[in-house]
Amino acid sequence: MNAQELRTKYLEFFKSKGHTVIPSASLVPENDPSVLFTTAGMHPLVPYLLGEKHPGGNKLVNVQKCIRTGDIDEVGDTTHHTFFEMLGNWSLGEYFKEDAIKMSWEFLTSPDWLDLDKNRIAVSVFEGDADSPFDQEAYDVWKSLGMSEKKIARLPKKNNWWGMDKGPCGPDTEIFYWVGNPNEIPESFNDDNDFWVEIWNNVFMQYDKQSDGTLKVLEQKNVDTGMGMERILAAVNGLDDNYKTELFWPIIKKIEELSKLEYGNKSDEEYIKDDKQCWVDVRKQFRIIADHIKAATFIIADGVVPSNTGQGYVLRRLIRRAVRYGKLIGIEKDFATSVAEIVVQEYSNHYPELAKNRALIFAELKNEEEKFRKTLDNGLKKLEKYLSNPEGNFWNKVKDEVLKQADIYFNDDIANLLFDLYQTNGFPIELAMEVVFEEFEKRDVILNKDKITQKFNKLFEQHQDLSRTASAGMFKGGLQDSGQESAKLHSATHLLLAALRNVLGDHVYQKGSNITPERLRLDFSHSEKMTPEQLVKVQELVNAEIQADLEIVREEMSLEDAKKIGAMGVFEAKYGEKVSVYSISDNGRIASKEICGGPHASRTGQLGHFRIQKEEASSAGVRRIKAVLE
Ligand code: ALA
Repeated sequence: MNAQELRTKYLEFFKSKGHTVIPSASLVPENDPSVLFTTAGMHPLVPYLLGEKHPGGNKLVNVQKCIRTGDIDEVGDTTHHTFFEMLGNWSLGEYFKEDAIKMSWEFLTSPDWLDLDKNRIAVSVFEGDADSPFDQEAYDVWKSLGMSEKKIARLPKKNNWWGMDKGPCGPDTEIFYWVGNPNEIPESFNDDNDFWVEIWNNVFMQYDKQSDGTLKVLEQKNVDTGMGMERILAAVNGLDDNYKTELFWPIIKKIEELSKLEYGNKSDEEYIKDDKQCWVDVRKQFRIIADHIKAATFIIADGVVPSNTGQGYVLRRLIRRAVRYGKLIGIEKDFATSVAEIVVQEYSNHYPELAKNRALIFAELKNEEEKFRKTLDNGLKKLEKYLSNPEGNFWNKVKDEVLKQADIYFNDDIANLLFDLYQTNGFPIELAMEVVFEEFEKRDVILNKDKITQKFNKLFEQHQDLSRTASAGMFKGGLQDSGQESAKLHSATHLLLAALRNVLGDHVYQKGSNITPERLRLDFSHSEKMTPEQLVKVQELVNAEIQADLEIVREEMSLEDAKKIGAMGVFEAKYGEKVSVYSISDNGRIASKEICGGPHASRTGQLGHFRIQKEEASSAGVRRIKAVLE
């Protein structure tokens, strides 16, 4: 079955059950500053899940393009992607658990539809906790369909609960498919076994999560489902790897041509059995490149260009990672556009925005790749030299087996190296870390990432203080590199957002931001043109915070904790993942608190004088300010 047949089958099935087909929304959420990208089909439907009437009625179905960067570290295996398509059906207060589960089962197993082997399917349901009870109803429906008890796992919130930081949420039941050897299907489901791959999630949205974390029972009980297109296409075609489906295979073939390496037809496990781990490593690089260039292509088609903040930064990271992985498999010449060409070719029938924006996509990819290749080459040369220096006391330490685990000996060295790569070579810091950590892992040295990051941040701050002293003297302006300027503009952006909220109101959220060495640009939600009085007031507020020379403090915490302490931010992260929160406060008064990747100045006093240059419309309901530091 090809991809288009599968999309059509899914839509047809739910149409036959009274659902209205709705189009895929943009990857960039239109009116929601809480996430950078559309991460699930339910995202654009939040108002309707909370009770607003949808023009399509109470039963909806679609194929939604999604970006999830929370799983970026897992991309490289056979089933995780940053860009994927989600097949979703919704009940807005119509059917609930029983019908939802029965329809999923029928679609997956009926000979009229996907006809998957029932024995290869297992499920999980919510086990219950203080917030919400065990999902007996979902459990009973699965049993009534003939699912053996051993294949119905009861799992906690971490696994079987779905929602965003706020808004509609509830317990879910997840459906898994056995992608391992069909002759070795286990009798019971085990969440830890990677051969059981989650293919479909049915969420029963019965609560509305409030800002303080409490759950309010929803009057309208909804169903939100999401099936991973790439995974189900692999399952239907009996493939052990999503990259072998037609959604990726032509891209893989192109990468083979560019790298002159082969992806191969066996499974990863077979290669490992044959003692060919290196083959699996190469495949991982193929997959990352294919995934990232595809995601970048779709993101640009939806109007984002590479930049240092927000969606543009994610895009930049995806392209840069792809270029770097390309290099690892020997692709030295510019290649992003050749790979994107295949993406446009393969997907334009279903997503015409790709063909329409073809010129823009290629121009942005080419430009970003060229710029980055230069930076990368210089940085990698330096790293290589450092790592291969036999005289360096570094590797002498590593030779000592005992010290291999005692990471404490290396932290300062590594932080210095990273700082040098960042400062002197303009190497992007996450990438520098990734490369360095990988190099050490290869040599069986476990590094302490947290300690190294702490030390790096310290070096960063010290350096800023030094340049401040220098810039106060005769070299004023001359010693400051663009990195430091950006850090200051970044901090000024936080102060600006806080001032805008102060003057205009709490409806103001960041909708986009872009920083060049010369100026900052902030897009924010507000529908009217600002008056001159408002602009003057905002400017005064920012300058007052600068004059107060407040300390800018960075703290690391889980995303949940950051939300709890009221940090603002457009940020996506996995549950439990650490984020940086930058706070600017004055004797207990919070001037600004934002989740942000940084870097920032260490004190507001370093920022100079803040001046707004321009205030203008950006798009419907969004205004744009350009400002400079003088
Ligand atoms: N919104 C649910 C998910 O993304 C279906 O898993």
